[in-house]
Amino acid sequence: MCGIVGIVGKSAVAPQLVDALKRLEYRGYDSAGVATLNNGKLERRRAEGKLVNLESRLQDSPLEGTIGIGHTRWATHGAPTEQNAHPHFTQGVAVVHNGIIENFASLRDELKEAGAQFSSQTDTEVVAHLVSSYLAKGATPKEAAQQTLARLEGAYALAILFENHDNMIIGARHGPPLAVGHGDGEMYLGSDSIALAPFTDDVTYLEDGDWAVVTHDGVEVFDSAGNKVDRARQTSQGAAMVADKGNYKHFMLKEIHEQPEVISRTISHYVDFATETFKPISEGIDFAKLDRLAVSACGTAYYAGLIGKYWIERYARLPVEIDVASEFRYREMPLNGNMAAFFISQSGETADTLACLRYCKQSGVQIGAIVNVPESTIARESDIVFPTLAGIEVGVASTKAFTCQLAVLASIAIAAGRARCTVTDAEEKELVRALVSLERLSSDTLGSGEAKIEALSRDLAKYKNVLYLGRGTNFPLALEGALKLKEISYIHAEGYAAGELKHGPIALIDEDMPVIVIAPFDGLYEKTMSNMQEVAARGGQIILITDEKGAEHVSIDTMSTIVMPEVPEFISPIIYSLPIQLLAYHTAVFMGTDVDQPRNLAKSVTVE
Ligand code: M6R
Repeated sequence: MCGIVGIVGKSAVAPQLVDALKRLEYRGYDSAGVATLNNGKLERRRAEGKLVNLESRLQDSPLEGTIGIGHTRWATHGAPTEQNAHPHFTQGVAVVHNGIIENFASLRDELKEAGAQFSSQTDTEVVAHLVSSYLAKGATPKEAAQQTLARLEGAYALAILFENHDNMIIGARHGPPLAVGHGDGEMYLGSDSIALAPFTDDVTYLEDGDWAVVTHDGVEVFDSAGNKVDRARQTSQGAAMVADKGNYKHFMLKEIHEQPEVISRTISHYVDFATETFKPISEGIDFAKLDRLAVSACGTAYYAGLIGKYWIERYARLPVEIDVASEFRYREMPLNGNMAAFFISQSGETADTLACLRYCKQSGVQIGAIVNVPESTIARESDIVFPTLAGIEVGVASTKAFTCQLAVLASIAIAAGRARCTVTDAEEKELVRALVSLERLSSDTLGSGEAKIEALSRDLAKYKNVLYLGRGTNFPLALEGALKLKEISYIHAEGYAAGELKHGPIALIDEDMPVIVIAPFDGLYEKTMSNMQEVAARGGQIILITDEKGAEHVSIDTMSTIVMPEVPEFISPIIYSLPIQLLAYHTAVFMGTDVDQPRNLAKSVTVE
């Protein structure tokens, strides 16, 4: 998603703006731009594509100026062209924006009628024109910004720069996050603290509806009614989150290999290894009193939630309703005081998930958040936060955040089971031991199987379509496997519950359709084998992911069998995620795609 930066600096800011934008690259973008004030006049450079294009533009034609704003754009309204790239300029005003101005069409008509000339297809340009129109009527920059914000519907984080005002950037937040950074005689704005990390770790997060006047001397924050408000300063963890690829070719591969460590770190937050019991993680939520749990998330986080549903219902006997956030918020689910609502998000900024959280909060439902970014909006607005300690995840395709979400959900299921007396002391110890074994088992899996998976990926890369099948917790894993493959390799892939195959998808099976079957030797193995037979009978190519016993019992020829270590059933979805991620990764590498920043995708989806 779009990223915003702003600097009220002491020296030339263009290089710093680009540096900050580089730290926002992980969010996904397709064009970029910066604008500065040079002797009171606005100047900008913009470029399609990656930041290297903007850098070479700046090299050919440098920008002077000690105050400026910058932007990475993830296209919503209008193609990713230079013309549509931010900053947008109108009379005396430059604007960068993350979000969607939902009433942009009516505003544009109104502005056009008043004589405004539009030079892009973006929704953002109406913001710049509105500010200019109020300035033209005699408003000060502050007044013009405030009057403009009052006209906007939708979601926005904004930074506005004004001609002849070389000591002021106005920022505003309604939805997508915006942080103010405090420096030594310099001040900053950024979509997140990671962008600001090279400059400062002293940040103020704007709250929804806030707008801020940022100058050399500091920041004044106002709420939507225009009242001056105090917002706390805090030390951000952004600096610690600055990541590099180390010796790995891609962030995704590095993040896959970090999993043994980060899963273990996450588990240790919830489990007392010495007593083999769960720590009292559910303070504030009495699981014994709940009659149901609503869970909502998007994408990979949603699939983690689906696996969590199997666990929570099985171990805590607590009914779980789960929806993708974009549906939950509009389906008018009846809510009551005996339920809690849990939201899962790596970034903690996903617009749909956040909207559901707010919808539930308004109805007085207790809110829990399973998030990876502790300073995120979802974390801050929740009653109770269950952190995933995956560390910064840069690859757009979620890997370590997913398995850490699973580790947290597994912990919640057992903690809830203890609270509801559905898990005995002995069972708790056994399940804790299973969780503790995750570090070793994930490390073994990554250590032993990758070369074979890489070789297999070379074959997989030749196909145009792939199916994934699984039963029980391996069904959501099949969905996740398909998502992972399609988002980074661009090969069409779908996941199905293995039992659903004969209800439609089996029509697709022929020799050009590899079918990846996730089937550890558990209580559902035989059932899944029957579905594999159905595929084999129709000439489908099977890639089986199973354990040694499963490999021994398989009675048909497979294109390949990936043999996993034997793992306790409880944690198998976490371990079986690993070959699925590696398969997608290596296939994408063979396809030659941009693995860490696949086309059209954003790391943090802050629009609806
Ligand atoms: O930051 P979130 O976990 O809320 O993001 C949710 C999805 O956008 C995300 O999981 C997406 O599906 C990933 N690209 C999957 O790899």
